[in-house]
Amino acid sequence: MKHILIISASPRKNGNSEILCDRFANGALESGCKVEKVFLASKNIGYCRGCGVCNSTRQCVQRDDMEEILAKMVSADVIVLATPVYFYSMDGQMKTFIDRTVPRYTEIRNKDFYFIMTAADTEKENLERTMEAFRGFTEDCLDGAREAGIIYGTRAWQAGEIRATDAYDEAYEMGKSVGLLNC
Ligand SMILES: Cc1cc2nc3c(=O)[nH]c(=O)nc-3n(C[C@H](O)[C@H](O)[C@H](O)COP(=O)(O)O)c2cc1C
Repeated sequence: MKHILIISASPRKNGNSEILCDRFANGALESGCKVEKVFLASKNIGYCRGCGVCNSTRQCVQRDDMEEILAKMVSADVIVLATPVYFYSMDGQMKTFIDRTVPRYTEIRNKDFYFIMTAADTEKENLERTMEAFRGFTEDCLDGAREAGIIYGTRAWQAGEIRATDAYDEAYEMGKSVGLLNC
């Protein structure tokens, strides 16, 4: 059975991106996958200090929740990265999280990645810059990362508005397809 790790980066509990994470998870669970979701805002994750110590030790000098989440990333088969769009990029929680993968990012190999973004904007093209920021991590820095699916969750400003958009069903179907393909 394949293991899916969902990283939910919104500070807004039950917000639009988390709703899509749960839809994705429900689809994946129904098709037989094992799913775990990490809600970053409830974790203690400090900023990368750029000290470089982890380049030789493979361990961060900060002993916070990132160590456990990194271990989950290394062992997962499929990783879902979900963020609200903040000023046309990923939010600070997601960026801080990605920066803290340095100690073990070379071990995050051959994973399937799915991306979930939510925004008030009505045009999917306007979320491409956020997607490009994700690619700077997955495509440019991780060995064998596969871009398996993207949800552009537009037209969602207030929490819950995403339920009225196509993305709500897309996320469920995408989760379900992961199970049918991989599990
Ligand atoms: C600090 C901040 C910056 C935002 N910047 C943008 C933006 O650049 N473009 C946009 O379309 N929506 C922007 N929004 C709206 C959010 O992307 C939108 O409400 C999204 O659905 C939030 O997802 P969440 O409920 O998962 O947190 C911003 C919201 C906040 C709080």
